[in-house]
Amino acid sequence: PVLTVLLCAAAYLAGSVLFALPVCQLWKLPDPRAQGSGNPGATNVYRTGGWPPALLTLALDAAKGWLPVWLAHAAGLSVMVQAVVALFAVTGHMIPIFYRFKGGKGVATALGAGLALAPVTTLMMAAIWMLVIWRWRISALASLIAIVCGPLISAFLEPETLPLFGLLALLIVVRHRNNLIRLAQGREAGL
Ligand code: G3P
Repeated sequence: PVLTVLLCAAAYLAGSVLFALPVCQLWKLPDPRAQGSGNPGATNVYRTGGWPPALLTLALDAAKGWLPVWLAHAAGLSVMVQAVVALFAVTGHMIPIFYRFKGGKGVATALGAGLALAPVTTLMMAAIWMLVIWRWRISALASLIAIVCGPLISAFLEPETLPLFGLLALLIVVRHRNNLIRLAQGREAGL
C-alpha cells in the first residue's frame, strides 16, 4: 500500500508538469495557453511551432503517463493498481498542482499510460487517431473518436483494462466539451 500511495502521488506530480510550456520556452514560442485553442498540449504547440516542438511535447507528456505505470508494473502491482496510477497521471495533467489546477486534455498522457498497461488497445486507438487525422485533419475529432473506441476495443482485447478505458473516455470527453461545441457548430480548427 505504501508503494501504491507513493506511485499515485508521483504520477500525479509528474502529470502536473505541462511539457508544452518548457518546450515552447525552449523554441521561443508564445505560451500555448494564450494562443490558438489555449490548450497546453501538443496539438496547440503544433499550431505555432510545427512538428518538432509538437512531437517533443507529445513524447514528454506521453512519457510522464508511461513511466509511473511501467514502474507499478515492474513492482508487480496488480492491473487495477496500475490503472489507478494511470488515472493519477492523467488527472495531474488535467488539474495540475503546479499551474493553479488549470491543465490540458490528457490525450498524450493517456496515450503513454495506455501503452504501458494495454499496448494492443492503445496502438489500435492511435491508429484510429491517425486515420481520422488523415481524413479530416481535426485533432480534437481524432482524439474524441479514438478515446470513445477505447472501451470497445479493450473489452475484446484486454478486458481487465476496460474500467480504465471507460474512465479515460469519460474524463477526456468532458475535457473536450468546448471542442465538442465547436465541432457541432462546424467551427473547430483543422491542423
Ligand atoms: O489533445 C488535445 C486535442 O484533442 C485537442 O487540442 O488544442 O485542438 O483543443 P486543441
